[in-house]
Amino acid sequence: MVNKAENVGILAMELYFPSQYVDQTELEKFDEVGAGKYTIGLGQTKMGFCSDREDINSLCLTVVHRLLEKNNINPHDIGRLEVGTETIIDKSKSVKTFLMTLFAKAGATDIEGIDTTNACYGGTAALFNAINWLESSSWDGRKAIVVAGDIAVYGKGPARPTGGAGAVAMLIGPDAPLVFDCGVRASYMTHAYDFYKPDLSSEFPFVDGKLSIQCYLSALDNCYNLFCKKMRKINPNFKGLLSLDGMLFHSPYCKLVQKSLARVTFNDFLNSSSDEKKKKFPGLSQFDKHKREDTYFDRDVEKAFMTYSKDLFEEKTKPSLFIATNVGNMYTPSLYGGLVSYLVSKSADQLAGKKFGLFSYGSGLASTMYSINISKDASAGSKLAKLINSLKDCVAMLDKRKCARPEDFSKQMQVRTENYHTAPYSPSGSIDVLFPGTYYLTKIDEQRRRFYERRM
Ligand code: ACO
Repeated sequence: MVNKAENVGILAMELYFPSQYVDQTELEKFDEVGAGKYTIGLGQTKMGFCSDREDINSLCLTVVHRLLEKNNINPHDIGRLEVGTETIIDKSKSVKTFLMTLFAKAGATDIEGIDTTNACYGGTAALFNAINWLESSSWDGRKAIVVAGDIAVYGKGPARPTGGAGAVAMLIGPDAPLVFDCGVRASYMTHAYDFYKPDLSSEFPFVDGKLSIQCYLSALDNCYNLFCKKMRKINPNFKGLLSLDGMLFHSPYCKLVQKSLARVTFNDFLNSSSDEKKKKFPGLSQFDKHKREDTYFDRDVEKAFMTYSKDLFEEKTKPSLFIATNVGNMYTPSLYGGLVSYLVSKSADQLAGKKFGLFSYGSGLASTMYSINISKDASAGSKLAKLINSLKDCVAMLDKRKCARPEDFSKQMQVRTENYHTAPYSPSGSIDVLFPGTYYLTKIDEQRRRFYERRM
């Protein structure tokens, strides 16, 4: 009989992004769009991409192997391994089963969990599965690993600059430096055709860009208001955004995240009494009668609350966008790249005792807002200090990437597109360009079985 797991949360984390990127300023010129459209309009700086040497299995193998290695994790200490991804290359065999090669070689095969899919939300669903297992009667005292990974690619056109790729692995267990709040997860799930992948012969999604933004913002409104309500049941003094030290969002592109923080303040405004509105939101009274559902594309509301929330954005959200602007939308890992970015932007002392809100969104649609508390122990050698130091090493790899010309990026996208379903297949992408420790695809055989090796 094991004791109940207390203070369940993130014990260790690992982030992987591709070793090649394309510069968004160069991409603007190559795509012949107005200068500033991708960099200022969307808020993106660089976009990571993979050649045909990497797929979802290799990405997840890379990040999990590194997590095990860097944290000296004994495979037998893992009782659950969950994967969240929307990069589907096999309709039956899970990515999790490929990851088992890392555990089975040590004889560790008693590991629950498989893959979870719903657009960018799968990683969060996988995380909740792991937390729920740790807090359940099924828990056997071991830890869980949650992996979120995706290759986000779009066909030529306006959505292409909002691509990216990457993977995050999280070690989940009791007595963690980052602890999940209990009983306040607030979800909003409904049916929408904003972004979906019905064509299984293509890597690209069908996207209704405008609808996807509306769905994202309406999900945010719903989750935020419900989250605040649940929080206030536990703590009647909870003041929404003002009670949170950080507010992190799934980041399709950084500008949408800045608009989302503004949207949160618009919700706070609408929820305030007349007196509070006058005191806390001077000069915004003309928006008093505005309805949430009519304002997703209301430029006046957007501009007024972007201006109002500028300092709040700088303090509570901007530090979370470092990976998002430099790698792009990684889909399921995007929110967790945001968490990594926020953590590396501060020292352990500055983070100790802080509270974050996190908003996870996956088209189709599934969304949740939840919260994390950072432990108060920030001493040298503490779990928190170790976590932050290890993440700083991951993020430093950004400077070691190779900048590819947009022509080469486009060619490599073409190779991926043309060979998406080719078998047998021998990938042609460079192995030398990969970071040491990266798994890569060596071949796909006649039976469409995939084979991998690790670059040393
Ligand atoms: N300089 C500065 N800004 C510019 C310039 C320029 N030269 N040209 C355009 N812009 C601005 C626009 O004004 C706009 O900003 P605004 O919305 O604040 O007004 C922004 O750049 C984008 O320009 P649009 O013309 O609106 O872009 P477009 O319609 O071509 O595509 C979109 C944008 C819809 C986001 C597209 O990239 C897309 O479909 N992406 C994938 C879907 C997505 O990410 N959805 C978000 C949620 S779902 C998910 O997570 C996948």
